[in-house]
Amino acid sequence: MNAVLHNDRLLRALLRQPVDVTPIWLMRQAGRYLPEYRTARARAGSFMALCQTPERACEVTLQPLVRFPLDAAILFSDILTVPDAMGLGLSFSEGEGPQFARPLRSAADIARLAVPDPEVELRYVLDAVRLIRRELAGRVPLIGFAGSPWTLATYMVEGGSSKDYARIKALLYDQPSLLHRLLNVVAQAVTIYLNGQIAAGAQVAMVFDTWGGILAPRAYREFSLAYLAQIVAGLTREAEQRRVPIILFTKGGGAWLEDLAATGCDAVGVDWTVDLGEARQRVGARVALQGNLDPAALYAAPERIREQAAQVLTDFGAGPGHIFNLGHGVQPGVDPDRVATLVAAVHELSGSRLPGGNA
Ligand code: CP3
Repeated sequence: MNAVLHNDRLLRALLRQPVDVTPIWLMRQAGRYLPEYRTARARAGSFMALCQTPERACEVTLQPLVRFPLDAAILFSDILTVPDAMGLGLSFSEGEGPQFARPLRSAADIARLAVPDPEVELRYVLDAVRLIRRELAGRVPLIGFAGSPWTLATYMVEGGSSKDYARIKALLYDQPSLLHRLLNVVAQAVTIYLNGQIAAGAQVAMVFDTWGGILAPRAYREFSLAYLAQIVAGLTREAEQRRVPIILFTKGGGAWLEDLAATGCDAVGVDWTVDLGEARQRVGARVALQGNLDPAALYAAPERIREQAAQVLTDFGAGPGHIFNLGHGVQPGVDPDRVATLVAAVHELSGSRLPGGNA
């Protein structure tokens, strides 16, 4: 594989090495806010068809890079492909979010779960990774990803999105050892799947723990953090003679940044409820930080977006180890021109603050 990388800002920042300007990429940078994404999805017929056809997944992955000078590509897929590969039967109905045909409803359902072979059941993802790497031709690095065991378990037990998490929380309090059994199988599946993505060419691995923040502190450590640490310990850390950085992101996890930093990951994602400067003081030199503009700031006027971007850069302060991102995904109603404003502002404002710069 051609290992030349023309823009390595993201990899450098994740390893807390100096960069010319702060790298930026956005969670859900490929998605419904882009008219070309909506066209591609309509052509494919469904979101899953988009994910399962490597050529289409590759096309959609590259769409935001055609518009904006982003510093990374992120694989176009979904965290719920893993439970789908475990036999739960995933579908997305318009406006209703994800749904499993066979959610986990009993101890027997959990006992039956097996760890999928990513080169078999998830081959379409790994083929997409290989194709995207070829098409990127070293322009920017490719981020691979998976869901955290806790977050995947919430969908597998609830059967889809949930407001109250009644079933998974009842399981947690009534049958903790059964939940641990589930989380163990999912953690193994995620580890093997991410290692498959890395072998296929993913240059960074990110774990999305979207629902860790709904847990009480002790429960977070026992049912989410412990499995994040298990995954970190099992991941391939070098490929193509480069370190493969790992990013952990618990949404709503601001209280546990030190715990996340202590897992051995390279970077921690932070949402917008956290002051980035305080976060940096708390994690010190252990990890880089990724974030954390409020995604709703992209509804504001361009000049306000520039101010908010400047504020995030100022909050982090001088020195290496910052990857600019939103605190969660780009929302579907955002005007793509506002994303262009943000990306330009981050590069411009961070470059001018370097020693020898013009500020
Ligand atoms: O970030 C990227 O651009 C890469 C692609 C990506 C998607 N989902 C595409 C997607 C990534 C990294 C994800 C992760 C994901 N999926 C998470 C964790 C991150 C987060 O957002 O908290 C979660 C919880 C899911 C599960 C999921 N997928 C839900 C709840 C939904 C429906 C709600 C929604 O936002 O539409 C999805 C669908 C989904 N995944 C879409 C996209 C672009 C929209 C599908 C469509 O085209 O209608």
